[in-house]
Amino acid sequence: MTTSLHPHDLSPAQAAARIRDTVIGWRRYLHRHPELSFHEERTAQFVYDALAEVDGLELSRPTATSVVARLRGDHPGPVLAMRADMDALPILEKNEVDYASENPGVMHACGHDGHTAMLLGAATVLAGLRDRLHGEVRFIFQHAEELYPGGAQELVDAGVVDGVDAVIGAHLWLPMPIGQVGVRAGALMASPDVFRLVVIGAGGHAAAPHETVDSIAVAAQIVTNLQHIVARNVDPLDHVVVSVTRFIAGTADNVIPGSAELTGTVRTFDAALRARVPQLMERIVRGITEAHGARYELTFERSYRPVVNDEAVSAFLRRVVERTVGRDALVEARPTMGGEDFSAYQQRAPGSFFFIGARNEERGIVHPHHHERFDIDERALETGVAIFIGAALDFLRGDRTP
Ligand code: NI
Repeated sequence: MTTSLHPHDLSPAQAAARIRDTVIGWRRYLHRHPELSFHEERTAQFVYDALAEVDGLELSRPTATSVVARLRGDHPGPVLAMRADMDALPILEKNEVDYASENPGVMHACGHDGHTAMLLGAATVLAGLRDRLHGEVRFIFQHAEELYPGGAQELVDAGVVDGVDAVIGAHLWLPMPIGQVGVRAGALMASPDVFRLVVIGAGGHAAAPHETVDSIAVAAQIVTNLQHIVARNVDPLDHVVVSVTRFIAGTADNVIPGSAELTGTVRTFDAALRARVPQLMERIVRGITEAHGARYELTFERSYRPVVNDEAVSAFLRRVVERTVGRDALVEARPTMGGEDFSAYQQRAPGSFFFIGARNEERGIVHPHHHERFDIDERALETGVAIFIGAALDFLRGDRTP
């Protein structure tokens, strides 16, 4: 696309304001055409086509449904990567807006449509400033954040963060009101590990429980006892969530089933605690099943690493937020036990992930992420574009002191 911007004369906030309507248009287009993780074919093509109209970007498709754009400035210097995720969720949208999903059962219910649109806007503006950039801005349009093993690790393995000096990414954030931007050094998001437990008893007639080993009764004790990990085994000043989210057993009202299957999630920030919780769980499972003559199979699957933000990059981001959207906007981000595969990039380069408030009580934009009525206050998009532009300009000026 062509822009009529004269970006040399504009601040990041002014440049973001100038491209606001285009960015909202992109977000609404993407919202209407959501695609599931690892199936973002049309989305990736849309992004590629939009970027192809911008002079000065070197485009690549590291995987089938991702796009990377490299903007190399006219002068040598550091490399800043910025990431947006692009995938939607298997949810039937209930919003009655003219940009509602046209793909029934699939919905941008987490705001990734907005992330993609913001990064497109920043890339468009920054490409027009290539002659003043010292270094490179790398725009990563990532597939499959919502589905483990996630797109980030694939892109890291494909080398998209090789040579990167810092990486940043944002999430439009419904827990935070519009106008606020949350930055935090240290742990921000948890590792969303999963477990599967099968309690194996001995089935039989419901009228003769003494001839069975009741897998439901045993598994129910396990469900309640697992909370002792949170309440009594872990330091209250540390953070852990243990949740049983599925409990499957039985086929009829007069049959005690031979087995019960439980699945759930364990959320932690800390590596040592992350390693310890499975041992604590197994101790409880082993003890309860043994006590009642049952057996068990317990498996853990490690998911994304926790998002732990780099001190220096977070300090840099704070300053960018103050400069671009103002001191009043900046708040300390509150950590969440949700997961994010942004952490994969942070294994290769110092990075910081931050939150852009998108909640508006007055307008009823209050539904949480992954809700069938999730929406954002679109003014947040402009804020995000301004921050990405400001971050690139500051970073590539070699001006990184907090
Ligand atoms: Ni998300």
